[in-house]
Amino acid sequence: MNDEIKVPYISKEELSQGESIFNRTVSELGEKQSIVAEEDIYSETGIKLVSSGTKIKNKIWEKIVNHKLIKPITESVSIENCLTINDIVSQAKSIIQNELFFVRLARSIDDPKYLLNKLKEINLPKPILNRLTVVRDARPRLYSHLLRTSIISAYFSFFHNLEPLKSDQLICASITHDMGEMHTDPKILEPNHIVTAEERRFIHVHPATGYFMLQNFPDLKGECAVAVLQHHERLDGSGYPSGLKGNEISILGQILSVAEVADALTWKFTSLKEIKVALNLNRKRFNTLFVDCLLQCVMEKEDNNKKNTKIKEKELKKRLSLISSVYDSTIKVSSYSENKEPLKSLNNRLKMFRYFLVEFGFDPNDHELLYEMNKDEPESIEAITLMVREFLWQNRDLLLFIESNKNHIEENLDEDGKKAISKLRTDLQKNLAT
Ligand SMILES: [Fe+2]
Ligand SMILES: [Fe+2]
Repeated sequence: MNDEIKVPYISKEELSQGESIFNRTVSELGEKQSIVAEEDIYSETGIKLVSSGTKIKNKIWEKIVNHKLIKPITESVSIENCLTINDIVSQAKSIIQNELFFVRLARSIDDPKYLLNKLKEINLPKPILNRLTVVRDARPRLYSHLLRTSIISAYFSFFHNLEPLKSDQLICASITHDMGEMHTDPKILEPNHIVTAEERRFIHVHPATGYFMLQNFPDLKGECAVAVLQHHERLDGSGYPSGLKGNEISILGQILSVAEVADALTWKFTSLKEIKVALNLNRKRFNTLFVDCLLQCVMEKEDNNKKNTKIKEKELKKRLSLISSVYDSTIKVSSYSENKEPLKSLNNRLKMFRYFLVEFGFDPNDHELLYEMNKDEPESIEAITLMVREFLWQNRDLLLFIESNKNHIEENLDEDGKKAISKLRTDLQKNLAT
């Protein structure tokens, strides 16, 4: 790993805009539960904004909205029913006992109490517990993701035999890794919202926001903060915020990225076999040591009926190659249409289309590898077949959109752009005809 940590630049305005979003959430929460200033709260320029003992509510937010506070609000307040480490442990216990993925994780360890003990050992400063309380009460799903990621990380600390200090850092990083998201406008994060390029910048900033947040705490500002900063970096350089590659990413950052993606998959897919396929498809982007370790412990041994799957595989190989051509054609069209306002809906469609494939782990340049890696696993083949079927729906949809808006699209493209859209139409039609 490089000794020098690359931290992306965030402007002062961006930082205070994010802080203001978070302070608004705190004030809104103060309308439902008691949040009290434990000390006077000052602006960075020395103006006293709130007196000790004041309840933080919406009207307080109006007072502080235009100021940058001298320190984060979570360092100056006490919150009713503030989260404790014991709460974290008992919530983790319920997850480990009730959710299949986590039941299997816990079962694969000889010492059944290991995972919970690892969580019990961490030491989080009060302002961080305050922040986590705000996450728990304002964004319960995000809180659950942090908790579940921490359980998977505790499992990795067992598997990798991490020394206690490192394992503490890893688990603290896991439970705080997305706290920076609380500084992002919640509207952008709504599931059906199509994120614009400008908004994507706000999302991509959350690892760095989390990193800066942890700099106030001597025990967390080292490896823990770096792992938070790197949790969306990927080994092949395709991640963010810095596009680091391979060993440029710290080992804790590598572990955390597998843990958090594994949990994200448990939200997305209902069956373990789908999780397994998605992990397999993404393995190039992660430390395979940890991916394989998860796959082994989470999945049960399967019977292989290779004879039956061979036929499917042949079709699949051809199908994956067609999908890859369509993918390339959409990129080509985008290169001509991207900055044209009248073609905004087309651009969004193309982006969503590619997003679906990439999310599933499809790599257009390496579709043969996808086939090779899964050919002996009937369940994987079955799940990829499901993806292909879903893809065909999207294929049909996109073709329909292009056909119905053909004139409008062509009017806004030059000759090369027209050729690109015509090639895309042919590829989409070919895919449906096969
Ligand atoms: Fe994240
Ligand atoms: Fe996350």
